[in-house]
Amino acid sequence: MRTHYCAELNEMNVGDEVELVGWVNSHRDHGGVIFIDLRDRSGIVQIVADPADSKKAHKVAERVKDEYVIKVKGKVRLRGEGLENPKLKTGKIEVVADEIEIENTSETLPFQIGDKSVNEELRLKYRYLDLRDPNSLETFILRSKVTKAIRDYFEKNGFIDVETPILTKSTPEGARDYLVPSRIYPGEFYALPQSPQLFKQILMVAGFDRYYQIAKCFRDEDLRADRQPEFTQVDVEMSFVEEDDVIEMIEGMVKEAFEVAGIKVNLPIKRISYNEAMEKYGTDKPDLRYDLEMVDVIDEFVDSSNEIFSEIAKDKKNNRFKALKVPGGDKFYSRKKLKELENFVKKFGAKGLAYIQLKEDGLKGPILKFMSEESLKRMIDKLKPEVGDIIFFGAGDKKTVLDYMGRLRAKIAKDMELFDENKYNFIWVVDFPMFEKDDQGNPTPLHHPFTMPDMETWDEENFEEIQSIAYDLVCNGYEIGGGSIRIHKEEIQEKVFKLLGIDEMEAREKFGFLLDALKFGAPPHGGFALGLDRVIMLMRKTDNIRDVIAFPKTQKAQCLLTGAPGEVDKSQLKELHIRVKKPKAENE
Ligand code: AMO
Repeated sequence: MRTHYCAELNEMNVGDEVELVGWVNSHRDHGGVIFIDLRDRSGIVQIVADPADSKKAHKVAERVKDEYVIKVKGKVRLRGEGLENPKLKTGKIEVVADEIEIENTSETLPFQIGDKSVNEELRLKYRYLDLRDPNSLETFILRSKVTKAIRDYFEKNGFIDVETPILTKSTPEGARDYLVPSRIYPGEFYALPQSPQLFKQILMVAGFDRYYQIAKCFRDEDLRADRQPEFTQVDVEMSFVEEDDVIEMIEGMVKEAFEVAGIKVNLPIKRISYNEAMEKYGTDKPDLRYDLEMVDVIDEFVDSSNEIFSEIAKDKKNNRFKALKVPGGDKFYSRKKLKELENFVKKFGAKGLAYIQLKEDGLKGPILKFMSEESLKRMIDKLKPEVGDIIFFGAGDKKTVLDYMGRLRAKIAKDMELFDENKYNFIWVVDFPMFEKDDQGNPTPLHHPFTMPDMETWDEENFEEIQSIAYDLVCNGYEIGGGSIRIHKEEIQEKVFKLLGIDEMEAREKFGFLLDALKFGAPPHGGFALGLDRVIMLMRKTDNIRDVIAFPKTQKAQCLLTGAPGEVDKSQLKELHIRVKKPKAENE
């Protein structure tokens, strides 16, 4: 229906007869001459409907309203000096309309196109209007190009794109499954895959050697700003490889993918052990665009005159005493703001937030009086504070202290604007523990139970000390991907299941097919999965994952556009042998 896209036109087209189609972005009547900004995917061009040029076109132009779909036939001309619009790509020219046809009308919009200040729920309900914003379009053009670059990369490296089932059995990635009832087998269910993990391992047993897939994954978990119930992974698996081989291959992909967004990734990406990340930054996904390192000061409090402190300092295995020096922090944080920081860490289990300030006339802070002179001296040697600095302290149980001090670190960096928003910092976190303790103190896998343990560290009594050959890729504080070398020997897999308390029956029932496959010449293998949505979020500098998914779910897992989830016909339920028992409303 068109000869050109609107924003393709420029001075070279002056004099050309063109046919354009698109939406009325805006229109104004200037003393009888009507100007229409016509918009299509490429951008905007100005249409002039002057009765002196075409009475017919002008008559139609009088009827157009915002977001009407119109077709314009006309001639390109220069706007002339003083009338150019430098903000538009096509700002030097305009199209004089010969004919205008209204293809479709539009109701008054519930919000202005591109107005992101309106309630997000309203934008999601009318997602097509929200997506008309050129800024959204740019996100999806980028997403498409990045996906293509990733496919090209894997194809050129000999990977095969294999689709794996969506109706499948439960995969243990640690979240709740989405279940689909079977009509043919009453009372039985498929699970939607939390990832293609088991299938990609089985493809390695099949001898495919190198697999990749842009795969949809489904997890019924608590949603956050960077989590969706259905999301996309760039899923990868390779045979006859060790950790370094996988890491190197993934680095190449990350470099080429980010290049599409004009972001340079320096290779090789640095690595940090899980323990170092936790001890220094309080998280396994540290944002290293800024320094702010926590320092261990537990030894300096063993002889503290404060009983609570010295008690904490006695148990170096289970407790932590951490200091976080913030250069210039004393000047930045007023008394009121310090109270806010304290309230912030209290939300994450801190009992309070002790600090010392280095003023012109020396160190200030209530904690000082509990320290021996010698310990204070040692601490100062470690931290080397300067005038204007503040040092925060976190003390208590290891997990809690590392968590809230890590959050404090990130909050301070944000408050004090300690990093450049345009910078990207990539880091591999390696040497993860194989297991962690769940709420009941039982072992649970930190990644998934198919991760290869470092057998040299195998110690069932101290299962928390067992390391795994697993690695996560982190960028600016986001975990953008993770992977591991897998167990390819049945005996080791059984050992892991046993430690996890999964008995033979349960293992057979849940993963019997994998255990069987491991009996038939499974090669050594390992892989990785990149969270594609998070990657696009980073590239587009948004902290809302919904911005980079065309039809996302809300924080409450609803699709406001379609109204999913929704009730279904009684007859459908009957066919599925399902009777619904609704929970009682709370006030009943
Ligand atoms: P993992 O569970 O770490 O690994 O997932 C890999 C990456 O997927 C992204 N991700 C998510 N993105 C958006 N919403 C979610 N709910 C969500 N959950 C995860 C993250 C994460 O780093 N099978 C293994 C991979 C492997 O071992 O090869 C797996 O799924 O960016």
